[in-house]
Amino acid sequence: MQIEPLKQKYEQCLRDFLTQLRAIHIDQLERKWITISLLMIGLFVGIITIDAFFHGVNPPSKVETIDSASLHLNKEFAEDNLGVQVDDKGAIIIRMVAGRYSFFPKHIDVPAETPLTFRWVSMDVLHGVHIPMTNMSTMIVPGYVAEITTTFPKPGEYPVLCNEFCGLGHNHMWSNISVIAKEDWTAPVKSPVKGGSNNE
Ligand code: CUA
Repeated sequence: MQIEPLKQKYEQCLRDFLTQLRAIHIDQLERKWITISLLMIGLFVGIITIDAFFHGVNPPSKVETIDSASLHLNKEFAEDNLGVQVDDKGAIIIRMVAGRYSFFPKHIDVPAETPLTFRWVSMDVLHGVHIPMTNMSTMIVPGYVAEITTTFPKPGEYPVLCNEFCGLGHNHMWSNISVIAKEDWTAPVKSPVKGGSNNE
């Protein structure tokens, strides 16, 4: 029974607000511009929505945390486990560590036209990673795993650039990825033994 008077109060408030709004004089020209700006906002929200649902452009982090100070003790990001791997379901997972001033492993070979899931972590400070001609552009925040799925459109050498200022060596922080034609690429052999062949 408490709800009824509350509802009436809200309705009254809304009605008052609408009457006040109608009482405001808005110039014709101003009205036009308000409409244009609202349409623009709608357009941008629409673009973001389409990108998110149909082009796979999503925030990179699923707020998955990791202890950046002990990556070497972490099973997933231990040195032998870095680089390209194919999981049981045939998906290609690439684990990379960013640290002042390089990306590790320094060099990897991946197939073109194939979805690749990159998992990035930082071992020290905030870094960024940008790979031109792909959707790969993300911050690598210490303490979090940045996961992005991308596809390289055609074979070639792709630069991997750090795009967050991380110190004096920031502009030297880059590495590269060799993208090989799909049919020429062979999955690296998974070696649980020390000194795996995945990393250079
Ligand atoms: Cu790492 Cu800039």
